[in-house]
Amino acid sequence: MTSVNLPITIKCRIGIDDRDSQRELEDFIGTVANAGCDTFIVHARKAILSGLSPKENREIPPLNYDSVFAVKQAFPELSIIINGGIKTIEDAESLLKKTDGVMLGREAYQNPFILNEVDAVFFGTATNVQTRTETLQKFMPYIEQELERGTPLHHMTRHILGLYKGQKGGKNFRRHLSENSYKKTADIGVLLDAISYVD
Ligand SMILES: Cc1cc2nc3c(=O)[nH]c(=O)nc-3n(C[C@H](O)[C@H](O)[C@H](O)COP(=O)(O)O)c2cc1C
Repeated sequence: MTSVNLPITIKCRIGIDDRDSQRELEDFIGTVANAGCDTFIVHARKAILSGLSPKENREIPPLNYDSVFAVKQAFPELSIIINGGIKTIEDAESLLKKTDGVMLGREAYQNPFILNEVDAVFFGTATNVQTRTETLQKFMPYIEQELERGTPLHHMTRHILGLYKGQKGGKNFRRHLSENSYKKTADIGVLLDAISYVD
């Protein structure tokens, strides 16, 4: 058997309840780094464990990017990836000046087309910039293959509900998929009908 050296990654927040000082955060990072972890994805808000639901914990505790920048300064040898509330490529570019990476959570799911620019902007890859509909057409053979295997349509379409976010007809595209994809008889026609709202 061959062994592969994968980076060891931990995802954490900047604090929990009243344990939210920069010193405690850096003690934690230092301790985990000493155990062999070299990559940290840091969600730049603390978690309030008593009283807030997981959803509220993603919205209510304020973002504190400075805390993550300070971690990077304290541990320049570690790979520090910042996360929390990042919604644009421009924000990501700016945050990358002070960190080693950026993680998009909800925005990547709610507005997946944002990822279309990533290769060109961050990796210098000359991409064929595709339209949303071209992207969808590339996804379709996979959807058809899965339908043939008996996978329900909504298992695939729920990941593309936000593909046309902010575009003319995008809300109707989303609504049509939401209302029809879960039906037992739902086939690729549901998706084609949804596309007709945005074409
Ligand atoms: C539905 C949902 C489930 C999540 N589950 C986890 C999880 O299991 N573990 C985790 O570390 N973060 C989890 N997160 C948090 C995200 O990884 C991310 O840290 C958080 O959404 C903040 O980033 P964002 O503002 O870019 O979304 C979840 C987020 C959402 C929306």
